[in-house]
Amino acid sequence: MIRQTYIVLTVILILCSLTTANRCPCELVVNENPTISNTDLASLSSFMDDDSTKDYIVQVADSIPSTNEDQEMANLYPLIRQRKSLSTTRRRFKRPSWAAVGKRSFTLIRKRPSWAQVESGTYYVPIDGPHQNYVDYIRTLPLNPLPEVYGFHSNADITKDQQETQTLFDSILLTLPKQTTGGEGRTPSVVMDELAADILSKLPADFDTEAIGKKYPVLYNESMNTVLRQEIIRYNRLTSEVRKTLADLRKAIKGLVLMSSELEEVFNAMFIGKVPNAWAAKSYPSLKPLGSYLNDLMARLKFLQNWIQNGPPFVFWISGFFFTQSFLTGVLQNYARKYTIPIDKLAFEFDVLQEDNDMPNRPDDGAFIKGLFLEGARWNKTTRVIDESLPKVLFDALPIIWLRPGITENFATVNTYSCPVYKTSARRGVLSTTGHSTNFVLLIELPSDQTKRHWINRGVAALCQLDD
Ligand SMILES: *[C@@H]1O[C@H](CO)[C@@H](O)[C@H](O)[C@H]1NC(C)=O
Ligand SMILES: *[C@@H]1O[C@H](CO)[C@@H](O)[C@H](O)[C@H]1NC(C)=O
Repeated sequence: MIRQTYIVLTVILILCSLTTANRCPCELVVNENPTISNTDLASLSSFMDDDSTKDYIVQVADSIPSTNEDQEMANLYPLIRQRKSLSTTRRRFKRPSWAAVGKRSFTLIRKRPSWAQVESGTYYVPIDGPHQNYVDYIRTLPLNPLPEVYGFHSNADITKDQQETQTLFDSILLTLPKQTTGGEGRTPSVVMDELAADILSKLPADFDTEAIGKKYPVLYNESMNTVLRQEIIRYNRLTSEVRKTLADLRKAIKGLVLMSSELEEVFNAMFIGKVPNAWAAKSYPSLKPLGSYLNDLMARLKFLQNWIQNGPPFVFWISGFFFTQSFLTGVLQNYARKYTIPIDKLAFEFDVLQEDNDMPNRPDDGAFIKGLFLEGARWNKTTRVIDESLPKVLFDALPIIWLRPGITENFATVNTYSCPVYKTSARRGVLSTTGHSTNFVLLIELPSDQTKRHWINRGVAALCQLDD
């Protein structure tokens, strides 16, 4: 009896060590992807294999504080940050199921490389063998992995190179002397004074909140009025800061007031074409350099000015909102109040239209929006699904999208990719007190003829504004 138990136990032990040995090589390869290296693969395995958990992972991805390693990886391939969950990455590395492993003999297991390749054939689970086999295999791996290893489009290499160049130039700028004297006669002080004067002359006056409050009063059936008023308060706060710092800077350059450390920061930032911290602290997120930032700011102010003068536009320029989430809530709230449906039962459906810029009228319900750019994929107007990016085209402008509110449980299930919308390409933000991210806006469902996994691995996201 004891002998039998002993034999059974030994068999179990051998089986266990076999499966563990089989697992090792898989982990070796999966660990190529640092986004998951800190995760206990085995314990997450069953959890992650379940498709329904994916959305959950996507949602928390925005709020999890990133590790240093994540950060390094994000610098290398910025697209990798979001949307890449363990399951989507691992599925690209095929591996035998547990059941199959149990049944296979040693000779069959030796064939494993053919089961475990990504597209190029360079990355696979190496053949079982002594330690040296694995080391030899790892030595054959390229020093600079291609984007496809991470499931990216080859355009991701361009994005990575741009990022590296940007970092290099930023470092060079830091070493630049700030106060050069003599030269061509125009000192930095003179140049900055002219620049400040130029910006001040272009900046429109603050919005008249009182007059706008009268024209667009708080109405039960029109939440957009409230949205507009809140936006105006936020923009006024930003433009008055810009105006104040610029005026002070000019005085400081003339020697009329003290050049405080804040003003010096404004001076230095403007000198190298960056947005001063004092503005950024009061601003919507933006990665644009100073010139484009100001152009973008003027365009936003003009968008609101048009709204104030001519009433709400037929198509809302979604990039123009300071706090985009309040606009989205406003649209839902209008619908909820019109049809007396509780707002928490409502969500949006998304119709991507053929038009790019203008619509002849307002939709009966919901809102038309424009101004989104797709990164990592593009919209195919013929087939009306998302399609692979064209080579060397990093961003593709999405046509007008109709945000159509409806009761969530009545939505038809179609094959879509839940594309996250971010304000900037940083694709990360901090959670504010309202529970909203400073960068993530919402998920839009885009029709797709590929699996969700494909686009998640591509890191496809929509951006409200570009970096230049
Ligand atoms: C909202 O209600 C007011 C008065 O109750 C009405 O005059 C106005 O036309 C309504 N607006 C909309 C957009 O339904
Ligand atoms: C859309 O996709 C089809 C089929 O893949 C392709 O032939 C066509 O060129 C694409 N059109 C556009 C505008 O990208």
